[in-house]
Amino acid sequence: MKNYLSIHDLGSLRHAVDEAIALKNDPYAFEDLGKRKTICLLFFNNSLRTRLSTQKAATNIGLNVMVMNFGSEGWQLEYEDGSIMDEGKSEHIREAAQVVSQYADIIAIRAFAGLIDKEQDEAEIVLNGFKKLASVPIVNMESSVAHPLQALADAITLEEHKTVKKPKVVLSWAPHPKPLPHAVANSFVHMMKLKEMDFVITHPAGYHLNPEITNGCEIVYEQEKALENANFVYVKSWSSYKNYGRVLHQNPAWMMTKEKLGDAKFMHCLPVRRNVVVEDAVLDSAQSLVIEQANNRTWAAQLVLKRILEVI
Ligand code: CP
Repeated sequence: MKNYLSIHDLGSLRHAVDEAIALKNDPYAFEDLGKRKTICLLFFNNSLRTRLSTQKAATNIGLNVMVMNFGSEGWQLEYEDGSIMDEGKSEHIREAAQVVSQYADIIAIRAFAGLIDKEQDEAEIVLNGFKKLASVPIVNMESSVAHPLQALADAITLEEHKTVKKPKVVLSWAPHPKPLPHAVANSFVHMMKLKEMDFVITHPAGYHLNPEITNGCEIVYEQEKALENANFVYVKSWSSYKNYGRVLHQNPAWMMTKEKLGDAKFMHCLPVRRNVVVEDAVLDSAQSLVIEQANNRTWAAQLVLKRILEVI
């Protein structure tokens, strides 16, 4: 695998999940694969899980790890070709991407959507800029429109916890005081389309995701109806796609409760706002898989880094 920008870069999801579970059972099986090689993790946005799980995964397979919080430590980057850089931005991505490529064998990048300009976010200027200009493989640690490491971790978690051959999985929108990106939901939808499971998306009117991504998915506007007979409920907040980046309302009736969850397992990528997105009784119950999802971020990242190291 040359780069990991989308869940589709894995090829067979089934094989990827099996391989990740094998790594989970034997974390140091490839401890020399990354020997004398370096990964550079560039964070343009905050993180807890991605930062630590990717570093742990890299260490498990012998990579040296360099981490840079670009947002606070790096020079502000210019992305536009031909720009006259006489204002705030000190360095062009043309130099930055080539310079980091001298120090690292793999570059991993986190750069969220700005949620102001849809066209600009969908152009993925940071991720695609590094992909175009760097001379080493690129890993997406959550970009404007995708979070494929989270989606792979979620696929692993679903596989480990399913108790019927074809479970019903519901992706349920949740209220949130701040406008949140669509990346996690988008990648979860992409991943679910690759799985042989019943999949339903539920959200209030006005909160449609990108229709090119949800194309072919069942969308139910009544949350209660969507949750009927669910085996897994994946809760996520996202801002409006049509009224791009707007919080249209924060209807508290969409918060996940123990009563609504029924017997289903609860999933969320974290971080999560307690008693806004989901009530304490769900997160503190045995039905919650959120800690296991976070654990599986390590094995998802380790599988991705292993596959890249095998071809460089
Ligand atoms: N789920 C996730 O990506 O968590 P962080 O934002 O803490 O990395």
